[in-house]
Amino acid sequence: MKDNKIIIFDTTLRDGEQALGTSLNINQKLQIALALENLGVDVIEAGFPVSSQGDFKAVQNIALNVKNSTVCALCRALDKDIDAAYEALKVASHFRIHTFIATSNLHIQDKLKKDFNEILAMATKAITRARSYTDDVEFSCEDAGRTPIDNLCFMVENAIKAGAKTINIPDTVGYTLPGEFANIIKTLFNRVPNIDKAVISVHCHNDLGMATGNSLSAILEGARQIEGTINGLGERAGNCALEEVIMAIKIRKDYLKGFYTDIKCENIAKTSKLVAAITNESIPTHKAIVGSNAFSHSSGIHQDGVLKNRETYEIINPKSIGFYDNRMLMTARSGRAMIKACLENLGYHENTYDLDDVYENFLKLADKKGQVYDYDLEALMFLSYENAQEHELKLEKLNVISGSIPTACVCLNMQGELKTESCTGNGPIEAVFNCIVRITALECVLKAYSINAKSSGVDAQGQVDVDLEFQGRKFHGKGLSTDVIEASAQAFINAYNAIYRSLKVQERKMA
Ligand code: KIV
Ligand code: ZN
Repeated sequence: MKDNKIIIFDTTLRDGEQALGTSLNINQKLQIALALENLGVDVIEAGFPVSSQGDFKAVQNIALNVKNSTVCALCRALDKDIDAAYEALKVASHFRIHTFIATSNLHIQDKLKKDFNEILAMATKAITRARSYTDDVEFSCEDAGRTPIDNLCFMVENAIKAGAKTINIPDTVGYTLPGEFANIIKTLFNRVPNIDKAVISVHCHNDLGMATGNSLSAILEGARQIEGTINGLGERAGNCALEEVIMAIKIRKDYLKGFYTDIKCENIAKTSKLVAAITNESIPTHKAIVGSNAFSHSSGIHQDGVLKNRETYEIINPKSIGFYDNRMLMTARSGRAMIKACLENLGYHENTYDLDDVYENFLKLADKKGQVYDYDLEALMFLSYENAQEHELKLEKLNVISGSIPTACVCLNMQGELKTESCTGNGPIEAVFNCIVRITALECVLKAYSINAKSSGVDAQGQVDVDLEFQGRKFHGKGLSTDVIEASAQAFINAYNAIYRSLKVQERKMA
C-alpha cells in the first residue's frame, strides 16, 4: 500500500524569490531556509545556482547550514546547469538535483524551437548526468498542465527509466481546474507502466485561484509531494500556498483520510510573518490561514456564536498554528537573553544575526521609545541585514524645513567622502529626494512611495517603502525610523545602494 505521507517541497527561495522586485541577500535567504527547516518542510529548493554567482553562494550556504531538510537546487536540462547545481549542493548532508524541461507544444515549438523527440533526448541526458551526482533526482515537465496527455505519459515513463526518483507535474501557468488536473494525475497512474518507481509531485500556480484545490485533488489521485511557497509567494498570481494545503490535510482528515505531513503546524504563523518581513511582501489581511483577519469575527451574530462555542464560526484554532494575542513588550531594562528569546519567537535563528549588534540598536531604540514591541525588533533585524552589506552611500546628516518653500539639506557619505547638497521640492520628502539625486548624479524616477506606522502609538516607527526606476529596472528601498523624513531618506538611500550593487554586478560581467 502506498505511504500516505505528503512530502512538502518548499520553493519560496526559488519560485517565490523569482517574483520579487529585488533579490534577497545571502543572509536573508539563510534566515528563511532555517525557518523552513524549523517548520519541518521535507525539501527546500534553495535556488537556481547557474543563474548568478549570488544564487550559487546562497544555495551553497544553505546546503552547509541546513541539516534536517533535503536541500535542492534547480537546473535546466543542460550540462552546465546540472554541474553548477551539484557544485553548490555537494557540501550538504543530503541534497536533490531538480532538472526540468518544457513539454507542452507551445513551449517546445515557440520557446525552445525544438521537437518533442529532441526534448525527450535532452531530458534523458540531463537525468542521467544528475544521477551521476546523486540518487535523489527530480524531473519536472514544465507546462504539464497544457501538455498533450500521450506526450506527458511518454515523457514521464522515459524520465523514470532514466533514473528520476521524483516526477513533478507543474501547472506552470495555473490553467487547469481541479477535476481536470486530478484527471491528468489519474491518467498517469493508469497508463505509465513504471509509475510505481517514482514519487509523483505537483506544482500548481494560482492564476485562476486553483493552486490549493488542484494540489489537493492531485493527492486524491496518488500525488505524494506538494510543491509551493509560504504565503503563496511566486510568479504572477503566485504558487500554491503551502500553509493552505498543510492545514487542509490536517483539518479535513475526515475527507482526506489517512494523509498527513510532518509539518510542525505551531510554527506556521511565525514562518509566514518572517517570510513577509524579509521579502517585504505583505500578507493580505483576508489571506486564508495566515491573514491578520483570518480569525477575526466582526458581525454580532458571529461574535455571539464564537463566544458560545468557538467552533460555530472557526474551523482552525489560531493557537494551533502559533498565533498568540500577546505582543511582547521590552524596555531598556530587558537583557540580551530576553531579546534573543523574542527573536527566536519571531522565527529568527541565532546563526544569522549578530546579537551584540542587534542588542546595541535595541537599547538605542528603547531609550528613544520607552517600550519596544516585536514589530520594532523585526525592523531592527532589517537594519542589521542592511548594515551587514557593503554600502556606497550612508546618510550622515539631514535637515529639513517645511512650509511654503520646503527645503532639505542632505549630507551623504560616499565611500568615505562627505558630500552635501541643498534643494527645494514640492514637499520636504521630495526636497530630500532631489538632494540625493543631485549628489549621486544618477537620474532615477520615483515610481511608488508608501508610509506605514508599525504600531498605533505616537511613538510608532514609520516604515517607508519606495520603488525607484533606473535604466528601465525597478529598485526597492525601505527605511525605518520614528522620524518619517529620516525614514524616507533611508528608503531612498537603501534603493540607491541596490542600484550601485547592480551596477557593480554589470561591471563585473563586462570585465
Ligand atoms: O512552474 C514551473 O513549471 C516551475 C518548474 C521549473 C518546476 O517552476
Ligand atoms: Zn513554478
